[in-house]
Amino acid sequence: MALFQRCVHLGCRVPWCGPSQGFECPCHGSKYNSIGEYNAGPAPRNLDRFVVELNPANELIIRTGSIIQTPRCLEPSVEYPQGPSCIGAG
Ligand code: FES
Repeated sequence: MALFQRCVHLGCRVPWCGPSQGFECPCHGSKYNSIGEYNAGPAPRNLDRFVVELNPANELIIRTGSIIQTPRCLEPSVEYPQGPSCIGAG
Protein backbone atom coordinates (compact mmCIF):
# COMPACT_ATOMS: atom_id res chain seq x y z
CA MET A 1 0.00 0.00 0.00
CA ALA A 2 1.00 3.62 -0.39
CA LEU A 3 0.21 5.78 2.62
CA PHE A 4 -0.20 9.55 2.42
CA GLN A 5 2.21 10.76 5.09
CA ARG A 6 -0.05 13.68 6.01
CA CYS A 7 -1.96 13.62 9.26
CA VAL A 8 -5.71 13.44 8.70
CA HIS A 9 -6.26 15.75 11.69
CA LEU A 10 -4.82 19.06 10.48
CA GLY A 11 -2.26 18.04 7.89
CA CYS A 12 1.12 17.84 9.63
CA ARG A 13 3.68 15.44 8.18
CA VAL A 14 3.59 12.21 10.18
CA PRO A 15 7.08 10.73 10.63
CA TRP A 16 7.80 7.03 11.05
CA CYS A 17 8.79 6.01 14.59
CA GLY A 18 11.11 3.01 14.55
CA PRO A 19 10.89 2.10 18.26
CA SER A 20 7.07 1.97 18.31
CA GLN A 21 6.74 0.75 14.68
CA GLY A 22 4.10 3.34 13.80
CA PHE A 23 3.48 6.83 12.46
CA GLU A 24 3.27 9.51 15.14
CA CYS A 25 2.17 13.07 14.57
CA PRO A 26 4.29 15.64 16.43
CA CYS A 27 1.60 18.34 16.17
CA HIS A 28 -1.24 17.03 18.35
CA GLY A 29 -0.27 13.45 19.07
CA SER A 30 -2.27 11.30 16.67
CA LYS A 31 -0.78 7.84 16.31
CA TYR A 32 -1.20 5.20 13.63
CA ASN A 33 0.21 1.70 13.29
CA SER A 34 2.57 0.60 10.50
CA ILE A 35 -0.25 0.29 7.98
CA GLY A 36 -1.79 3.62 8.93
CA GLU A 37 -4.61 2.36 11.11
CA TYR A 38 -5.75 4.87 13.74
CA ASN A 39 -4.53 4.23 17.28
CA ALA A 40 -4.80 7.45 19.30
CA GLY A 41 -5.26 11.21 19.23
CA PRO A 42 -7.64 13.62 17.50
CA ALA A 43 -7.34 12.15 13.97
CA PRO A 44 -10.83 11.38 12.66
CA ARG A 45 -9.82 8.37 10.51
CA ASN A 46 -6.92 6.16 9.46
CA LEU A 47 -4.09 7.65 7.41
CA ASP A 48 -5.22 8.14 3.83
CA ARG A 49 -3.93 5.83 1.10
CA PHE A 50 -3.29 6.23 -2.58
CA VAL A 51 -4.56 3.91 -5.28
CA VAL A 52 -1.73 1.58 -6.37
CA GLU A 53 -1.62 -0.40 -9.62
CA LEU A 54 0.74 -2.12 -12.04
CA ASN A 55 0.97 -0.80 -15.58
CA PRO A 56 1.38 -3.16 -18.58
CA ALA A 57 5.18 -3.02 -18.13
CA ASN A 58 4.76 -4.26 -14.56
CA GLU A 59 5.83 -0.91 -13.12
CA LEU A 60 4.23 0.15 -9.86
CA ILE A 61 2.08 3.23 -10.33
CA ILE A 62 0.99 5.25 -7.29
CA ARG A 63 -2.00 7.44 -8.13
CA THR A 64 -1.41 10.41 -5.84
CA GLY A 65 -4.54 12.03 -7.26
CA SER A 66 -6.71 9.13 -6.08
CA ILE A 67 -6.98 9.17 -2.31
CA ILE A 68 -8.68 6.41 -0.35
CA GLN A 69 -10.16 7.41 3.01
CA THR A 70 -11.10 4.82 5.61
CA PRO A 71 -12.80 5.25 9.02
CA ARG A 72 -10.97 4.84 12.31
CA CYS A 73 -9.84 1.29 12.74
CA LEU A 74 -11.71 -0.59 15.47
CA GLU A 75 -9.79 -3.87 15.23
CA PRO A 76 -6.17 -3.17 14.20
CA SER A 77 -4.50 -5.64 11.85
CA VAL A 78 -1.00 -4.84 13.15
CA GLU A 79 0.11 -4.52 16.76
CA TYR A 80 1.01 -1.01 17.92
CA PRO A 81 2.95 0.24 19.80
CA GLN A 82 5.74 -2.30 19.72
CA GLY A 83 8.09 -0.12 21.76
CA PRO A 84 8.47 3.41 23.15
CA SER A 85 6.80 6.31 21.38
CA CYS A 86 8.87 8.98 19.64
CA ILE A 87 6.54 11.79 20.78
CA GLY A 88 5.92 10.77 24.36
CA ALA A 89 3.05 9.18 26.30
CA GLY A 90 2.66 5.60 25.33
S1 FES B 1 -2.13 17.42 12.74
FE1 FES B 1 -1.63 15.44 13.44
S2 FES B 1 -2.64 15.30 15.33
FE2 FES B 1 -3.13 17.24 14.63
